[in-house]
Amino acid sequence: MDKIGFIGAGNVSKAMITGMVRKKFDLDRIYINSKTNETKERLSIELMVKCAKNNIDLVKKCKYIFFAIKSQHYKHVFDEIKDYLDPERHVIISLAPGYTIEEIRQYTGIENLKIMRAMPNIPSLVGEGMTGVFYDKNIFTDEEKSDINTIFQGFGEVQELDEEGHMDSLVSISASSPAYVYIMIEAMGDAGVLTGLPRKMAYKLAAQAVMGAAKMVKELDMHPGELKDAVCSPGGTTIEAVKVLEDRGFRSALIESMLACYNKAKNLKK
Ligand SMILES: NC(=O)c1ccc[n+]([C@@H]2O[C@H](COP(=O)([O-])OP(=O)(O)OC[C@H]3O[C@@H](n4cnc5c(N)ncnc54)[C@H](OP(=O)(O)O)[C@@H]3O)[C@@H](O)[C@H]2O)c1
Repeated sequence: MDKIGFIGAGNVSKAMITGMVRKKFDLDRIYINSKTNETKERLSIELMVKCAKNNIDLVKKCKYIFFAIKSQHYKHVFDEIKDYLDPERHVIISLAPGYTIEEIRQYTGIENLKIMRAMPNIPSLVGEGMTGVFYDKNIFTDEEKSDINTIFQGFGEVQELDEEGHMDSLVSISASSPAYVYIMIEAMGDAGVLTGLPRKMAYKLAAQAVMGAAKMVKELDMHPGELKDAVCSPGGTTIEAVKVLEDRGFRSALIESMLACYNKAKNLKK
């Protein structure tokens, strides 16, 4: 596989590269660059990947260029590198919400440049990532798509999207959702402590319950409601908890918060 470069060495790059390290990717092929030397040197030492001298050096060295920077820096970085981008060679992989392939293409000014969007998430760090991808189908070769899938499958599952607009939904349902789940696990841990459990044990119990429940939804092909019903014995303890969750608007809090996240992603540039 050709060389892979990450412009940006923050949270999402760290998660993806750590996942790649765990899957024994050839680290000689991975380059990173960040705004400050401090960030890239720290990550380079931690994960044993190579530092590019700057963004232009990274573009010269790598075929697959991950844009792992905040979208407000896109214009500046594309202005810096666009004269070094070769449509015959390079593939741009944009990780930012809110910017369409066409808008990114306008920044580069290169009509036939291969650009795709990907929306990974933080659990990539432990090899359990979920990445949505959208390709500009007309111009990607099968080999390039296979390389890119290999990269993302290295740290989790990949879902190819048919419509670019679905990327905004992915921001809320799989990219941001680990944050909601961490809040839930933290609160479950507090409840465990309130009822007398040691805090560390409470987090372990809550996290494993969440992971096991998610695994059942994925593997048993059953409706989540059916699985919930199976835990709620008539007149039992679980239905008492479910009643309070319904009274306090647990479902609508989730739906409304995810809608807010979706709308923010959709209107990020406004
Ligand atoms: N975090 C997630 O879970 C997640 C999930 C899916 C998608 N995303 C998207 O991925 C992108 C990165 O997110 P993040 O959470 O990784 O952000 P982050 O932790 O804030 O990292 C951003 C990185 O960009 C670097 N940077 C800024 N300007 C630069 C420049 N001119 N040239 C090279 N590098 C530059 C920063 O370098 P310094 O550290 O040296 O300042 C930093 O390493 C965002 O668009 C985000 O929306 C994030």
